[in-house]
Amino acid sequence: MAKPKRRYVCQACGSLAQRWQGQCADCGEWNTLAEEAPETVFSAKHDLSGGGRKIAFEPLDKAGAPLVRRSTGIAEFDRALGGGLVPGSAILMGGDPGIGKSTLLLQAAARVAQGGGEVVYISGEEAAGQVRLRAERLGLAGAPVRLASATSVRDILTTLGGMAAPALVVIDSIQTMHSDQIEGAPGTVSQVRASAFELIRYAKECGTALVLVGHVTKDGSIAGPRVLEHMVDVVMSFEGERSHQYRILRSIKNRFGPVDEIGVFAMAGAGLEEVGNPSLLFLSQRGETVAGSAVFPAIEGTRPVLVEIQALIVRLASGATPRRAVVGWDSGRLAMLLAVLEARCGLNFSSCEVYLNVAGGYRLADPAADLAVAAALVSALADRPLPEGSVWFGEVSLAGEVRPVAHASLRLREAAKLGFGEACGPAEVAHEALGKGYNAITMLSKLVDRVIAEA
Ligand code: TYD
Ligand code: MG
Repeated sequence: MAKPKRRYVCQACGSLAQRWQGQCADCGEWNTLAEEAPETVFSAKHDLSGGGRKIAFEPLDKAGAPLVRRSTGIAEFDRALGGGLVPGSAILMGGDPGIGKSTLLLQAAARVAQGGGEVVYISGEEAAGQVRLRAERLGLAGAPVRLASATSVRDILTTLGGMAAPALVVIDSIQTMHSDQIEGAPGTVSQVRASAFELIRYAKECGTALVLVGHVTKDGSIAGPRVLEHMVDVVMSFEGERSHQYRILRSIKNRFGPVDEIGVFAMAGAGLEEVGNPSLLFLSQRGETVAGSAVFPAIEGTRPVLVEIQALIVRLASGATPRRAVVGWDSGRLAMLLAVLEARCGLNFSSCEVYLNVAGGYRLADPAADLAVAAALVSALADRPLPEGSVWFGEVSLAGEVRPVAHASLRLREAAKLGFGEACGPAEVAHEALGKGYNAITMLSKLVDRVIAEA
């Protein structure tokens, strides 16, 4: 038999290398390659004549058991999941350390348990006493959650196998789990993959909903094993700025529902509180209108959220390299918008420092924010406030045109409901905007004229 080859696995992306290198050739991370035990390959040749078992094909329209979801008892969590926990599904919950994953899951576990479901909460990071202390602080100590501190997957599965299948199993976190099926320290790609595989197989066989907590690396992907994202049914990410109160639960992948719904929470003294109506959360306290501030009607899933975009422009004495800093938006997109404003509207930002901030720790990904950002920038540059009570939305092309965006009428309706009497956006939606106060902006240069003329 040939001597098994050494293999080196990148702990960040899971790619394979034949020899050790300082940098992973696939993801470019440094010092992430680690030697792992060789995989046993039996025979690469397939025998078409037989040897295997025949599998049975099934029609697509075969009537199966209807999908019954179980509520987590937290409406915002259910909403982000697409309606609740699906039995037998595996959910990966990612998020920065300290963002509140353990808190949210403990609250959900307690609610499910109070609702009569059997819940197992296994912490590999904290001692049972620590989890109990937190439950006490959250006022949930009375909930009949089965709590344990363990890291051995074999022990966990043996325990689960000896009891009726629970409705929900929470594993906090998958990086601390250790499977004895495979060599290696906990947290390595192969360990995480093997542990997750065994736990997911249990969940599928027994119809238990399984939540795995996964740590997030500094670039925002779920730590190390991106491979895990392929194995689970739902990938969720819990986001927010730790210094801000608000947290957003987003699903990135969902085999059982839409991925555009979010759950909004506020971290308070007694854990995470649901924020049922988030549309006004991300507006700063509105007093007098200031230059450089524009309100953008964003859409999250099916819900509109009004967000304030703030721009600050500082003119520099000639010579120094101006800074551009962005919080809550894409810096590449800001560079593009500045270039369009320079090339198509004749504005000059080259000797100015540009700072852009999305209020409330919110992260914007909607391309419809372009026009609002442009309005904030022009308003800051001209040092003139935008008209009071106005909202701005539309996508800006490289040619400087304002393009139509999705859900225009929903955005307008929400803005009107919250007392914004004026809206500026793409021309294509003008007929949808019932009533007065809608200004169609076809070209970015029109916006510049408008901001400068209005004030
Ligand atoms: P935690 O759930 O431990 O975060 P994660 O599991 O994602 O690492 O949450 C930790 C933070 O939440 C902690 O820094 C304090 C804050 N917190 C509150 O503000 N109020 C509370 O009631 C609880 C339980 C935590
Ligand atoms: Mg935790």
